[in-house]
Order: sequence, then C-alpha cells, then structure tokens
Amino acid sequence: MTYPLEPDAQEMRHLVDEAMQRIIAHIESLPSQPAMNVEGATEYARTLIEPLPQRGEAYESLLDFLFRDAIPRSFTAAGPGYLAYVPGGGLFHSAVADLIADAVNRYVGVCAAAPALVQLEANVVRWFCEIAGYPRGAGGVLTSGGSLANFTGVVTARKALLPDDFLRGTLYCSNQIHHSFQKAANLAGFPYANIRELPVDETFRIRIDALDEAIARDRRDGWTPFLIAGSAGTTGTGAVDDLEALAHVARENEMWFHVDGAYGALFMLTERGRAALRGIEQADSIILDPHKTLFLPFGTGAVLVKDARTLRRAHSLYADYLPAMQQEDELVDFCEVSPELSRDFRGLRVWLPLKLFGIVPFREQLDEKLDLIQHAVEELRRIEGIEIVAEPQLTITAFRLRGDDALNRELLQRINARKRVMLTPTTLPDGRFVIRIAIVSHRTHRDRVDMMLEDIRASVQEMS
Ligand SMILES: Cc1ncc(COP(=O)(O)O)c(C=O)c1O
Repeated sequence: MTYPLEPDAQEMRHLVDEAMQRIIAHIESLPSQPAMNVEGATEYARTLIEPLPQRGEAYESLLDFLFRDAIPRSFTAAGPGYLAYVPGGGLFHSAVADLIADAVNRYVGVCAAAPALVQLEANVVRWFCEIAGYPRGAGGVLTSGGSLANFTGVVTARKALLPDDFLRGTLYCSNQIHHSFQKAANLAGFPYANIRELPVDETFRIRIDALDEAIARDRRDGWTPFLIAGSAGTTGTGAVDDLEALAHVARENEMWFHVDGAYGALFMLTERGRAALRGIEQADSIILDPHKTLFLPFGTGAVLVKDARTLRRAHSLYADYLPAMQQEDELVDFCEVSPELSRDFRGLRVWLPLKLFGIVPFREQLDEKLDLIQHAVEELRRIEGIEIVAEPQLTITAFRLRGDDALNRELLQRINARKRVMLTPTTLPDGRFVIRIAIVSHRTHRDRVDMMLEDIRASVQEMS
C-alpha cells in the first residue's frame, strides 16, 4: 500500500526543487515584468472553472500552468513598478518561513500546544509595541491584515466602554479614513448611521473643530460618543491626522482612541516618521500592516492594544475540551485575544526576517522611500502643467495635470500603458480626480522612480 499524501524524502525534495526553480526565475524577472498584465485576464479566469478533479495530473504541468498562465495575468504587486494602492512587498525570507511553518504544522492557537513557538510570535507583538512606543502592559495579536485588525480593535473598544446594548454608541473618523474602519464598525454591530465621517482640512487631516462639534451635538442628542479613529497615513493621499490633538479630545471626552496605522505606523522606525506620527503612542489601540510597510507577503496585519487586559476581556471564552489557559501576563493564548482558535503560525514570517537581519535594514528601506517620494515630488513640480495636490506626509503623494478630470484619466492611462509602473487614482473630497504615487515596496529604488518620472513627462508631452 502506498500513500500518495505522504511523500518520501526524495519526493519532498523533488516537489520543493521544481517549485523553487520557477520561483527563483519569477523573482529574478520581476524588474522586467510588466507592472500590470490583466488584459483579458477575467475572460481567461472564466475558462478555468472546472468540476472537482477525480484524478491527479503531472506536478510539472501544474507548476507550468501556474507560472506560465495564471501568475503572469495579474498586477505585478511584488514588483518594483507597483506604486498603486498601498504596495505590498513579498519578502522572500518570509516565504521560506511560511514553508517551514506550514510543513511542521504545529498548533499555536493555544500556548500549551507549542509554548516556545507561541512565545516567538508573542515576541513579534512585543517588538511592534516597542516600535509604537507602547508601555509595558500593552499587547496585541497578529491578524490576516488591517481589516481584521480594525475589527478586533473596534470590538475591544466596544466591550471596554459600552454596555451589551450598545446601539447609542457613536464613532468618529475623517471622510478620508480607509473604508475597512467603517466596515469593521458595522461588523462589530454599529449601524453605518452611528459613524460620523468628518470633513478634513486642506492637507486632508481631520478637522478637530468639526470633531469637537460633532461630539458635543451627539451628547446633547442623547448619543454615547465612545470612539475616535485617527489615520496614521490615509490610503488616498497619505495624510496623517493630528494624533496628539485626537488623543486630547478622546481623553477629555473619556473616549477610546484608535489609530489606523495599517500603512503608516511602521514609519515609527524612522526619525521623520516619528515626527509625523507624534501622539500615536497615546492611542488605546493601533493597527499596522507588516504586509505593507515591513514588506511581508500579504496576510500579515497586527492590532496593538495599550492595555492588553481589554483585548483579553473582549475575546476570552473557555471550553472544557481545551487545555488550561495561561494566567501569567507574560504568556499568551492567541485564542484568548482574538476571534480565532485554529490558525496558521503567522508569527514565523515576521520573526525569521527580523532575527535574521535585525531592524536596521527595514529602517533604511523606509528612509529610502521617504527620500524617493521627495525626489519624485521635486521632479514632478518641474513638469509644465503638473500640480502637487497632496504633499507627501509619509511616502504617498497625489498630483494632477491642470485641466479637467478627463484629461487626468487620459494621463493616467498613458502612464500605465507603458507598463513600467502602475499608478492608481483617487477622488478628493471636493470631487477632483487625482493620480496617486505610493512608494512602499522594498524592491522600488531610484531607478524605478526615475522611470516613472520619464513616463509621466513623456505622457504629458504627448498630450500637449
Ligand atoms: C490605511 C489602511 N487601512 C486599512 C487597510 C486595510 O488593510 P488590509 O487590506 O490589510 O485588510 C488598508 C489597506 O489597504 C489601508 O491602506
């Protein structure tokens, strides 16, 4: 009797070697791949619908299908030219960590099942707390991304400050916050009508006067204002709210202060970032996305909570068939601080690169991105007709060509058609269509930013 689901040593080596050859070729070709390649990709996707396979196919042909047909028909999200949305990275070392974590498949939902491995992941959370400037007693948990981190943060705040009957509770944010915050609040039980989206100033930061007024008005009307959410780097224009002022308003009103730092919080590693994010350490909860500004593969977010006990109080529930939960503050059961029980060992993908390199190369990368966006903006200003609409506060900027939206849509289309970079647009609160540049990836360096500038210059020239 042979068991195909249990490969022997030779077969395992073959599986990894064949995949590795193609992975290396793929990664080495990232700089020459088109920044996006999705013409006809949805039509192609439809041809892939098929019934449950009864018999297997050759491994090599499956790999060839993936690397030749499926993977190339995408945005090249791990490539140097991806300056769209908020770029991810795809650190190769994390991919190796994932292979190890998945292959050993230890159980990290409860501490008793693999205490040492759980501790490695708990260390990662502690390091993030240290980066954020949080004191002892802070804690958190790694999530699959910023959206679930926002959800965990809002649920923790709700349970800390509101009764079970919480529908009079109201939440405050700017109209520029990432929509995953409103979605998180809604999934946490709040009708969208309880979320106050406030106007921003000319630098796209929440207006504190509007916030003060809204809270006072709601109190008069019998609502219970309980949570203020600040942005530490909006997706649209990269704006960082005045976090110190928000912390002050939250304190005065005995409200929870939550910060969406999915994109921006890790800039705390840099001096310029710390200046821009002043006040973040006063937040009751912060989210950050290592799959953005620590360059990790998609699927790695984090929520940090200043008082770890609130996180545990919100999520803890015991059942008789589980092993005993940890009672010391030092040790953590991830199922006690998150909605999940079984989960992947996602901490290893952060732990391995941080232990291998230390934090220094990550800080250097973020500093390089801060320099690159300044270079991009200086050069853009020299192009006749271009105006910078959002000065970079971290590493995102937005610009437009003087003229109407149609002209700017055409400009974006011309830039992206060259396929060396991929840029995406957004619409400002005043309705204007603008083109964004987000420099985040560890694979984006000066040469690619100069290619982008050449392509913008050439596109503008074609249109004049
Ligand atoms: C500022 C900000 N917050 C939250 C999110 C949501 O994070 P995720 O996509 O990891 O769920 C994003 C994502 O792109 C973001 O840019």
